[in-house]
Amino acid sequence: MDANIVLLPGDGIGPEIVVQGKRVLEAIAAKFGHSFTISEHPIGGNAIDDFGDPLPQPTIDACKASQAILLGAVGGPKWDDPTAKTRPEVGLLKIRQELGLFANLRPIQTWDELVDASPIRREIVAGTDILFFRELTGGIYFGDSGRRPHASGEEAYNEMVYSTGEVERVVRLAAKAAQTRRGKLTSVDKANVLEVSRLWRQVADRVVKEEFPDLEYEVVLVDAMAMHLISRPKDFDVVVTGNMFGDILTDAASMLPGSLGLLPSASLGSDGPGLYEPIHGSAPDIAGQNIANPLATILATAMLLRHSLGLEDEAKAIEDVVAATLKAGHRTKDIAGGGAFVSTTEMGDIVVNQLG
Ligand code: NAD
Ligand code: IPM
Ligand code: MN
Repeated sequence: MDANIVLLPGDGIGPEIVVQGKRVLEAIAAKFGHSFTISEHPIGGNAIDDFGDPLPQPTIDACKASQAILLGAVGGPKWDDPTAKTRPEVGLLKIRQELGLFANLRPIQTWDELVDASPIRREIVAGTDILFFRELTGGIYFGDSGRRPHASGEEAYNEMVYSTGEVERVVRLAAKAAQTRRGKLTSVDKANVLEVSRLWRQVADRVVKEEFPDLEYEVVLVDAMAMHLISRPKDFDVVVTGNMFGDILTDAASMLPGSLGLLPSASLGSDGPGLYEPIHGSAPDIAGQNIANPLATILATAMLLRHSLGLEDEAKAIEDVVAATLKAGHRTKDIAGGGAFVSTTEMGDIVVNQLG
């Protein structure tokens, strides 16, 4: 197959991990006889420095002309001034919006060999297999925002808005995924307080009742969900929630497998290219040291091959190699528990060699 893949390395550890993802894509192309045209484009803080824009138009054009995009991460202390005209994160939010990527799939699974890397006890986490659907182009991230005068100085506001259609489409995708898994769907909201969550719940209830009556379905309030995720993660199959709740819950859930550096994600729209990235950020505290875990990004390439290119065998090959790598005891620093560890590039070498 011929495919056009865009890489957006970004900032901090972004370039360090994306280059490992690129090597994996190249290894897959060689092994399975595909021809991937891979090009790199700027996004984030480095794009602000070089072009005065966290998402330059040529980057948008390249993404729109591609079949799939692999992104590292954006942001860092250099661009954190709260009074700055723009921010690296704006680039990421804008590319998600430009491409209509409303569904962010975040699988949370544990690897048996790695269970001891989790701060949570083995009997609680072993066997966890959750698929989060985080709504990605709506909610408080995209509502009206600003500042206005206030008696005490000024005040700032962010509106949280969801429409019926926005809830329907992401709940529908999540419910379809649940049908192909263990048949259970959990919708997470804050309907005891927020009007927007009451609409969310009404719509989710109706879509499931009318279109997916066979699913086991429950609604859980987000504060309680934060607890249930840690105390009984194995009870969840597919979880669907809004933009900010999904952001927070999945970073917390990364402690089930043991590290943020293990979790990939896929951002999908109704058509066009998908965007694949680790759920973690640019990790400025470890950038430039060649110690970041590249496995989240490598697993994101598997999602890319599966969801945007329909290459299931290739995706599975990568996931199997990652599992074998962990089984063989190879660890980056974040999952080494203070023991011996390999570098980012060495972990890339180990995966690529096994693929070859
Ligand atoms: P972060 O996810 O970058 O890091 C949180 C912690 O996890 C850090 O201690 C970091 O070292 C560790 N970590 C993250 N990825 C790792 C990996 N692959 N291997 C080993 N350890 C890893 O979150 P943060 O520090 O709160 O944010 C830093 C910057 O990243 C901010 O500017 C933020 O806006 C940005 N950010 C970007 C994205 C994205 O581009 N998708 C996502 C989250 C945060
Ligand atoms: C993520 C990040 C982003 C988000 C930021 C950097 C805009 O935290 O991808 O999870 O909040 O969506
Ligand atoms: Mn996040």
